[in-house]
Amino acid sequence: MTARYLLALDQGTSSSRSIVFDHRGTVVAMAQREFRQIYPQPGWVEHDPTEIWTSQLATAREALAAARLSTKDLAGIGITNQRETTLLWNRRTGEPIHNAIVWQDRRAEPLCAELRDAGMGERVQRSTGLVIDAYFSATKLRWLFDHVPGAREAADRGELAFGTVDSWLLWQLTRGQVHATDVSNASRTMLFDIRRNQWDEELLQLLKIPASVLPEVHPSSHLYGVADAEFLGGEVPIAGIAGDQQSALFGQACFRPGLAKNTYGTGCFMLMPTGPRFETSANGLLTTAAAQVDGTPQFAFEGGVFIGGAVVQWLRDGLRAIESSAQVQALAESVPDAGGVVFVPAFTGLGAPYWDADARGAIVGVTRGTTVAHIARAALESIAFQSAALLQAMSRDAVAAGGAPVSELRVDGGACVNDLLMQFQADLLGVPVVRPKVIETTALGAAYLAGLATGVFGSLDELSEQWQVQRRFLPTMPRARAQALMEGWEHAVRQATAK
Ligand code: G3P
Repeated sequence: MTARYLLALDQGTSSSRSIVFDHRGTVVAMAQREFRQIYPQPGWVEHDPTEIWTSQLATAREALAAARLSTKDLAGIGITNQRETTLLWNRRTGEPIHNAIVWQDRRAEPLCAELRDAGMGERVQRSTGLVIDAYFSATKLRWLFDHVPGAREAADRGELAFGTVDSWLLWQLTRGQVHATDVSNASRTMLFDIRRNQWDEELLQLLKIPASVLPEVHPSSHLYGVADAEFLGGEVPIAGIAGDQQSALFGQACFRPGLAKNTYGTGCFMLMPTGPRFETSANGLLTTAAAQVDGTPQFAFEGGVFIGGAVVQWLRDGLRAIESSAQVQALAESVPDAGGVVFVPAFTGLGAPYWDADARGAIVGVTRGTTVAHIARAALESIAFQSAALLQAMSRDAVAAGGAPVSELRVDGGACVNDLLMQFQADLLGVPVVRPKVIETTALGAAYLAGLATGVFGSLDELSEQWQVQRRFLPTMPRARAQALMEGWEHAVRQATAK
């Protein structure tokens, strides 16, 4: 029998996971390992690159063993990963010259402020689609050159390799044979011209990043190289790479404008494809490269909610209203609605479409009748309100660009199992919220990309047919009521953002 299984390596911020899929996109087996988060000072977050690799490899072996399969059964490996996290290593020894600087790390903010003050914002957005922020790789990489003794000289001698986590894993799996990345990961470096599909020479010069350290960039579905037989017991082609959010968009079969996905995790990441035309947002959304199957650029709008599921953690650890996160649904359902309470969890400021770093949390509409159940319900609803505001902004941008508004929201991530939240989300949006059968969509996207490159799947249409709905939440609330609720939300946001 020909090899028909696919192994997805999903290297996330808090854990490394591996999932084996069959040719129908069904999960056969999975394995997961957490690894250390390193906080050298407030605002700094690092990972040990060796732990990233060893934990990832261990889960790949475990998943394959749990599936009772060998490399002979695998058509290919797909890699998906936490994005923006920045690594720099020696090409000869393979040794990292510093810990990985994680996407959440804020150490490069002073440099970003300088760039903003120098009026570089428009220039950066025009080519990369991004707003200048320490979130992205460019200024983290510059920080490494400025702070690791000898790094710049070594790079000038061509001895160093830069990569996001996908490149690092690819390098390890191919024993240093391949130094490459895909367009979706490159698009998060703030060094890549997503319109021309190439590194931006002018930005590299401006940021004093030597071009010698950069990986080659390929489409997301591509034969990148072969995993050395030592690792999994036999050679396997590495045939797909995408950043985790773009991979989830692909795994949700959101291949055309109007189909958006939202991942409900600690924060929420919402993306919507805009097709082959580069558009910028008037509402503070990012423009990003979607996963590419052939060399044609495909773009997406992206927006993030900083505090999504994290609000439930706060109910548990801060307010001590519940003992475990799982209890939130029962508590919230013990009341028919939030009783007029609106909770804006702006604990760390607000992102798109508000962009107010100084905003702080607010709970408004509290009366003598308010109970902890109302607050729990309002906390849960806040996840839906923030996502709805983001989706409305996306629709406005899409329509302004001559495209279609969002017609359907496909959901994944931990909190998408919460029926109450999903129904409320559909009610607020007035469009169907759709939960797929396979909610491991991040890993599934990487498997799809690898499967397309190795002939397991023939086309995007085949994937669209294969992708199956588990439950469709249709809006039932009258639109006038939904609009009144959104107005109540916007009113509460004004309290949270009032200086
Ligand atoms: O942009 C950051 C994102 O890629 C991280 O995702 O799921 O690892 O927290 P996650």
